[in-house]
Amino acid sequence: MKPEKNQDRYFLPFSRPFIGEEEITEVADALRSGWITTGPRTKRFQDYFRRYAGSSHALGVTSCTAAMHLSLIAMGIGAGDEVITSPITFPATANIVVHCGATPVFVDVEPETLNMDVSLLESALSPSTRAIIPVHFAGRPVDMQTVLDIAQQRGFAVVEDAAHALESWYRGSKIGSGYPELGKWSFKWSCCFSFYATKNITTGEGGMVTTNDEGLADEMEVLSLHGISRDAWKRYSEEGYRHWETIRAGFKYNMTDIQAALGLVQLRKVERLWKVRTELFSVYDEAIEGLDEVVPLKREVPEGRHAHHLYVILFRDEMLDTTRDVIMNEIQARGVGIGIHFRALHLHPFYRDRFGFRPGLFPVAEDASRRILSLPLYPGMSKEDVERAAGVLRDVVRSHRR
Ligand SMILES: Cc1ncc(COP(=O)(O)O)c(C=O)c1O
Repeated sequence: MKPEKNQDRYFLPFSRPFIGEEEITEVADALRSGWITTGPRTKRFQDYFRRYAGSSHALGVTSCTAAMHLSLIAMGIGAGDEVITSPITFPATANIVVHCGATPVFVDVEPETLNMDVSLLESALSPSTRAIIPVHFAGRPVDMQTVLDIAQQRGFAVVEDAAHALESWYRGSKIGSGYPELGKWSFKWSCCFSFYATKNITTGEGGMVTTNDEGLADEMEVLSLHGISRDAWKRYSEEGYRHWETIRAGFKYNMTDIQAALGLVQLRKVERLWKVRTELFSVYDEAIEGLDEVVPLKREVPEGRHAHHLYVILFRDEMLDTTRDVIMNEIQARGVGIGIHFRALHLHPFYRDRFGFRPGLFPVAEDASRRILSLPLYPGMSKEDVERAAGVLRDVVRSHRR
């Protein structure tokens, strides 16, 4: 890409997938193999992923959205049920609740992490509550102990939105493992990951759902491929034609071997890429130190680990003479891509109109919506790229000091 006029350097994108020759070779091998939909590579990817996450089952699907939808349907969530989640999330987290015929219920977030404030959970419960979807925002684990305890006491299901949290740990348990170190849990549980193009590892589009419940795993597998009997994907294999039957009104959510080929190679790199992003986080920390108008989200995870998916800052707007949107546009105009994760979901038109959510209901989330910004972050960035992004931020913010 050529630099734009008046732009001294190339545009620094907000995100860029980290794809090498190994991924290209593996995808080409999958294409040449003659088996391009769900097949042996998907099975292998699921197997490696299960081991990485520490769960007994893993199912490859088309997205994290599909993983969460399948989870709720397989757990029997439906009309009349309420599902609790965070308003600081991607729409998919609540959309899938609506797709089940259930009602999303939001609880406000903690100001320093923007994760669900679990101290508010009790106040959001009703006789119709059936499930909780904690969102590990930016890669920082939610305070799961409280979520697990409430789910255990009341028999609610837990579906984790771990789209940002592939490498996260919470109190000695890997996110995706089901927290065996923290207790013996008998409620329905699953954990959902995203391999979207901007995520920590990518399959272009794709996702994975882990669980430790064999019955739930079987049900999700059947539902992920039209609701036809298990292993129907083998119906064209050399094992001979098998009759299959429709046992559920299922979905088309199965992962393909082309996606799995990418995923297999990306998963081998997952910890290395995490280390690279961790170093880039430190470069940002150093580069914006002393810029008082900007506060990075709290990241320390006692006895755990942050996945370092998004480098998120909050502007202290009382120290600035303009809005986040003006600053954001000026940063972009100077050749640095940015993201907004997220503007509180309850005030998006669909949720406002359909469920009657109004401003003021979740003040912390609403306040953060106006002040939040994500800076570019991906393993292909150099230290100089990070310093350049931070430098542009610093210049723009200084020009708007009150
Ligand atoms: C918090 C969160 N949940 C869910 C999703 C949906 O993931 P996918 O695109 O894989 O369906 C995203 C995607 O950006 C996300 O950020």
